[in-house]
Amino acid sequence: MEVVHRSGRLAQRLAGALVVGLAKGERKPSGVAAAVDRAAQGAISALLAGGDFACDPAEVAVLYPRGLKAKRVIVMGLGARAGLTSDRLRRAVAAAVRKARDLRVGTVAVGLDVAGRVDANGAAQAAAEGAVLGPWRFTAYRTKSGAPALRRVEIVTGAAGRAKSAAAAVERGARRAEGTVLARDLTCLPGQDLTPERLAARAREVARGAGARIKVLEVPAMERLGMGCILGVGRGSAHPPRFIVLERPAVPATRRGPAVVLVGKGVTFDSGGISLKPRDGLHEMKYDMAGAAAVLGVFAALPSLARAPRVIGLVPAAENMPGGRALKPGDVLRAMNGTTVEVTNTDAEGRLLLADALAYAARYQGATVVDLATLTGAIGIALGTVVAGLFTADDALAAELLAAGEATGERLWRMPLWDDYERDLESDTADIVNAASTRDGGACIAAWFLQHFSGKLRWAHLDIASTAWAPHERPHERRGPTGFGVRLMLEWLARRAAES
Ligand code: BES
Ligand code: MN
Ligand code: ZN
Repeated sequence: MEVVHRSGRLAQRLAGALVVGLAKGERKPSGVAAAVDRAAQGAISALLAGGDFACDPAEVAVLYPRGLKAKRVIVMGLGARAGLTSDRLRRAVAAAVRKARDLRVGTVAVGLDVAGRVDANGAAQAAAEGAVLGPWRFTAYRTKSGAPALRRVEIVTGAAGRAKSAAAAVERGARRAEGTVLARDLTCLPGQDLTPERLAARAREVARGAGARIKVLEVPAMERLGMGCILGVGRGSAHPPRFIVLERPAVPATRRGPAVVLVGKGVTFDSGGISLKPRDGLHEMKYDMAGAAAVLGVFAALPSLARAPRVIGLVPAAENMPGGRALKPGDVLRAMNGTTVEVTNTDAEGRLLLADALAYAARYQGATVVDLATLTGAIGIALGTVVAGLFTADDALAAELLAAGEATGERLWRMPLWDDYERDLESDTADIVNAASTRDGGACIAAWFLQHFSGKLRWAHLDIASTAWAPHERPHERRGPTGFGVRLMLEWLARRAAES
């Protein structure tokens, strides 16, 4: 499916469906909706007058009026105009385009005129994102689904003078949302088909498409670097771990400026290891590589950024299994930075992978590092499924990330990163333990554990355990993987590039 920009009059377009928005509390359609209403002999006014359509956010109605070249009109509720944000528009368009997909419509034309709090280009971008995210579903293993009918979504804007910037905004939105969709697809793959080795193969494809350099470290190379923590986690699996390094652009060492390093936790399946998880919901632990998927989604979309800083992607990939050689509770691992870790719980494996990845990141001097990890169940206890936890000691970095979160609807909430948590990591045997004896403050203790490995780097940790997998359907998400973090990181990178 393609998402494109068109300028002109929506009412005149030939399409399987026209999409127009209606704001809550307005007695008559306005703007594009009013023009379509006139051409459609008052069909939209009649919908409003009928009183059945409340114009609630992402509510949809389908009309089959006469007078148009298009067969249908899909009306999307926008909620009150005063509260119209780009996120609400994204969801409304997602709902409308999903409806069109369900009706097996081939071409959809979405009319955009959103006077209010959203600027025109922001609206065009959000609409394009919604158009990609709403109809997405994972069909790789279905035998009966048939080919999707939806071929094209046109985002139609009126002001011809601004067509160029609107087209760029649509392009931007589509590319970024396609990065999200890539992350979702990867996250859906079962552990059997996405082992660390296969994840590395997928990373190679992404790197090729994005013009990035890639290096995949196998076990001997990781041994040479002293990545004892990743190797420890991978020991119980028949599928050995990998350490994936992406770089874009690939500039020579002498011309390297400060980089951004994105680290993604890549546990392709988390059984818990010897500290085995309970059986309920265990099949969902294939999503424990959602951080890695987000990093790959970002790389896939990097070429669409007008300006991008140098970006390094680090993906420690392993399968956490209770095999005969598996890591045992009580074992002591030595991380790449020399810190020794007593493994009190083999299910706290994500932080072990990140320990070595963060230590590896130290080679990028002056870099800003952000890790994305499905790290703790505790973050969901703290924040629920609509916002991810942000941990950083750097206030300016926190402000940048929080702002990008608000702009993309992939929201963050800052959590404490304090040395008060150190006592929970005290070990009788080694420098620290990997898991505290208490469940209280689990997300914060995990973040503090990571802090031992981030060294002097400017660093933020995003705990996406509860946001990477949606428990219920939302207009722009289905039940399952969300691709959380892709659009967030791209927005943050774009803003940084614009400011430097
Ligand atoms: N991958 C899990 C975290 C997780 C839990 C992700 C639920 C998504 C949904 C992580 O490896 C883990 O098992 N964390 C433990 C840490 C504990 C042993 C200290 C947890 O959260 O229970
Ligand atoms: Mn675990
Ligand atoms: Zn895990």
